[in-house]
Amino acid sequence: MTLEIRQAELERVLDPVPAGLTVLAALSGVPEISISAPCGGKGRCGKCVVQADPPPPPSEADARFLTPDQIVGGYRLACTCPAAEVRTVVVSEREETARVKGEIPRFTVPAAIWPRARAEGTWAAAIDIGTTTVAVYLLDTAAAEVVAVRAEMNRQGIFGADVISRISYSEESPAHLERLAGAIRGQLRGMLQQLSRDRGAINTVVITGNTTMLHLIAGVSPAGIGRAPFVAEFLETREYSAGELNLGNQGAVILLPSVAAYVGADIVSAAVAAEMDRTASTTLLVDIGTNGELALSHQGHLYTCATAAGPAFEGACISAGVGGIAGAINSWNRRGDRIVTTTIADAPAVGICGAGLLDLMAQMLADGVVDETGRMESAEGYRDGATSRATSPGASPNDALLAWQDRLTEHRGEPAVRISETHLFTQQDVREVQLAKAAIAAGIDVLCHDAGITPRELDQVVLTGGFGNHLRVESAVATGLVPDLPRERYISVDNAAGRGAVLVLRNEDTLERTRQLASQANYIELSGHAFFQERYVEHMMFPEEE
Ligand code: FES
Repeated sequence: MTLEIRQAELERVLDPVPAGLTVLAALSGVPEISISAPCGGKGRCGKCVVQADPPPPPSEADARFLTPDQIVGGYRLACTCPAAEVRTVVVSEREETARVKGEIPRFTVPAAIWPRARAEGTWAAAIDIGTTTVAVYLLDTAAAEVVAVRAEMNRQGIFGADVISRISYSEESPAHLERLAGAIRGQLRGMLQQLSRDRGAINTVVITGNTTMLHLIAGVSPAGIGRAPFVAEFLETREYSAGELNLGNQGAVILLPSVAAYVGADIVSAAVAAEMDRTASTTLLVDIGTNGELALSHQGHLYTCATAAGPAFEGACISAGVGGIAGAINSWNRRGDRIVTTTIADAPAVGICGAGLLDLMAQMLADGVVDETGRMESAEGYRDGATSRATSPGASPNDALLAWQDRLTEHRGEPAVRISETHLFTQQDVREVQLAKAAIAAGIDVLCHDAGITPRELDQVVLTGGFGNHLRVESAVATGLVPDLPRERYISVDNAAGRGAVLVLRNEDTLERTRQLASQANYIELSGHAFFQERYVEHMMFPEEE
């Protein structure tokens, strides 16, 4: 039995298809094919939709997530679809190039490239392996400048959207761990090849990322990170010789040091890029990607913690949630009696990403579509309460009613908002946003509490991460994700972690700074932390309109 796989122009044939595999498992052996599988193939997210021919009988998960029309049309969830019963599978095209994290600005102070990097070759690469996005920066070692940047979705996404699903996949068998390592190594090899094409061999490679991503590229089991007491196999800087990780470069591959199982090298390199080890001001770093990692520098001390808060903002757990891909709704505003939205790359809407999600929540709160407990109004309730409802200053209550009246609808007996022709934002989605934002807000409170300050005493807040630097501060404040501080104290930094890795390549002293910072940081474990629990419950509420 063979399985023909198609995605856009690409066609592959699996022959034979091993017995007992699901379509998703079969696709995992084809690195060129990209499919979204946020729950890691557990039938819980409904995102791994493919078109199967002939379509096998629908599974329970198919019936739960797919419409009757989709089922009749042969659509199935790849993770519950038996590959042996299908001849052809069509995977819809997915935006593969992630929102590129921007150019690295030229550094004003010329810094020396490591002597060995300069001596052994012309090019070096700094890499940030995020759970969702992988970014590679190519440096011209002679000029000590970033000359090219490439970002893609992490191809391990097929094994799960978050670190926990990838850890559990890796634990199932040694072959799974190898598959995860192979996926990221193969992807990086390809990205490095593309960047160095027509240029020449890449010498030194410096890699940052969260602790799990570093374990996976090293081929080391992250099992200990997945369960209490959350112990990583390694946190220290690791250096591999060329060829050991098979990335196609010619010099050393350096993995930067981490602080703890959930405060990885990405936070360490971001903290170095933000000069948190040198600044006298009280600085909070908020890195929201697939996880929410926080660091606070105050009077020469660094406090860090991690919250399991990111996936909602990266698209997982939200019914129409997507990452920062073309077609993601990334802003949502009401202007008078109209809702005005934008999508990334102006493409037709494919869902909503974190920045759009926060805007939507902020507007729903301002217009009374959702109250401070997170309860969403029904269409009738909203209409009935329209005249008495307070809306944003200067606006007529009727404007809000006109704007929302066609948007308010129902989903499984609960109120929902139509965010595009085919996508809904549901009451359950509001709950997911509440859980995520409460965890981050409570984490910030814990860091401030342990440092002996209040959030109002923060001199500077650096927002970064896959989602963190794209959010609008107004919306983040309105939803209670971050403290209500004078706006000039907020700074958005595009991929601070990647910048830190670039700095390490530019100056060997920076590697020592990352080591110092990682070893001296105070890590605060939030599970079982009484003050965190207390603040978490309080932050489940949205701030009341003033
Ligand atoms: S439902 Fe298939 S990967 Fe989540």
